[in-house]
Amino acid sequence: MTAHPLVGIRACVFDAYGTLFDVASAARRAADDLGDAATALAALWRDKQLQYSWLRAVQGRHTDFWQVTGDALDFALDAMGLVDHDRRHRLMQLYRELDAYPEAAGTLQRLRTAGLPTAILSNGTSDMLAAAVAHAGLGGLFDHVLSVEEVGVYKPHPRVYQFALDRLRLRAPEIAFVSSNGWDGWAAAAFGLRAIWCNRQGQPHERLPGAPAAEIRSLAELPPLLGC
Ligand code: LAC
Repeated sequence: MTAHPLVGIRACVFDAYGTLFDVASAARRAADDLGDAATALAALWRDKQLQYSWLRAVQGRHTDFWQVTGDALDFALDAMGLVDHDRRHRLMQLYRELDAYPEAAGTLQRLRTAGLPTAILSNGTSDMLAAAVAHAGLGGLFDHVLSVEEVGVYKPHPRVYQFALDRLRLRAPEIAFVSSNGWDGWAAAAFGLRAIWCNRQGQPHERLPGAPAAEIRSLAELPPLLGC
């Protein structure tokens, strides 16, 4: 991994959930109801959501991310003894309105001012992504918002990363792919993208094929890394 500017980058593609949007913010905003359970519920909900996406990809049994997110929430509420219809409804609505990380908008502005095209490549449905982008005030800051729904399988299937190349009409080494999800960054790097791991939590490196080209702790470190 390097701290030097990456050269030859012609677009910057972002993962959405966990990278631009804080997935824990839904449960946090329902803390009036969840109390001390909010943090644990957010973590279990996210873990199950990712597991279900990977398992469905391996099984060849795709269903969209709104369904997977709801299934994961049902599991988490059940596991924690928190099943309640209104609570579920509220948390799912809050998932459409996640907080963006505070540095996201400024970072995107800087990249675009420098003339670098930006995109999202996410497991989320187009509808979920449009809602999150609009709520966070990030509308107009992306050239493309790409959902795996057009591919019919979840990350880290290589077809998802190929979809970004096809849409952006670029070669893999010309794309900087930014993710806070280590497994996503490693898989994108193994595919050939220039992966940048936004390691907000100081997590250890994944033991998986591929290695990100760079590691940052916040999206604010991105513009200089991309020469913007
Ligand atoms: C996404 C998940 C992986 O946005 O966070 O694709």
